[in-house]
Amino acid sequence: MTNVIIIFIHLLAAGVALGSSIYCLKVYLPVVEKNPGDRDENSPSYKILDLLAPTVFASLLMLIGSGVYYLLENYSAQVGLKPGYYNLFGIKMLFVAGAFFTSMYVTFSLRIQISDLDLNPANKDLVSPNLKKMIGLSKMAMWMVAIALFLGIWLARF
Ligand code: HEM
Repeated sequence: MTNVIIIFIHLLAAGVALGSSIYCLKVYLPVVEKNPGDRDENSPSYKILDLLAPTVFASLLMLIGSGVYYLLENYSAQVGLKPGYYNLFGIKMLFVAGAFFTSMYVTFSLRIQISDLDLNPANKDLVSPNLKKMIGLSKMAMWMVAIALFLGIWLARF
């Protein structure tokens, strides 16, 4: 029963991270952004990335927490695993680490630089280049989460 709950949380967080990224970056923004060249603090990408970045980061924290908890809960079952299981697990962790640090940079560096523009009006110049970087890096994190998801399903059936 515990395993079912942990994997449910793991899959829910994976669904939120990937689902929200695909919707925002591949469905919403291409439709609403008329002129991606001149983004400013009133463009849709400014508001949506302000929500997407922390959502993906929080989901990644939940994935790491539930994944580690699953391993701790099942530590005695890990002696009987087939050879190669941890090779696959290691490759999955590389993609998880890539997605985690990319998401952390987008959420806590690029996003923060262009928030509270009333207090820091000089940062208005950063809005367009930062949004461009945030969209590019969020797409990269999205692909890394997608590959980690594939490797997770492979692991569970290894
Ligand atoms: C981007 C982050 C991640 C994604 C998208 C992801 C996705 C998945 C998926 C889809 C499964 C298959 C569940 C099933 O079909 O039963 C899975 C299983 C698993 N994940 Fe993750 N995961 C992520 C991060 C992590 C992390 C950080 C850890 C551990 C530190 C972890 C440990 C595990 C373990 C132990 C399993 C179970 C494998 C088994 O049943 O043998 N995952 N993951």
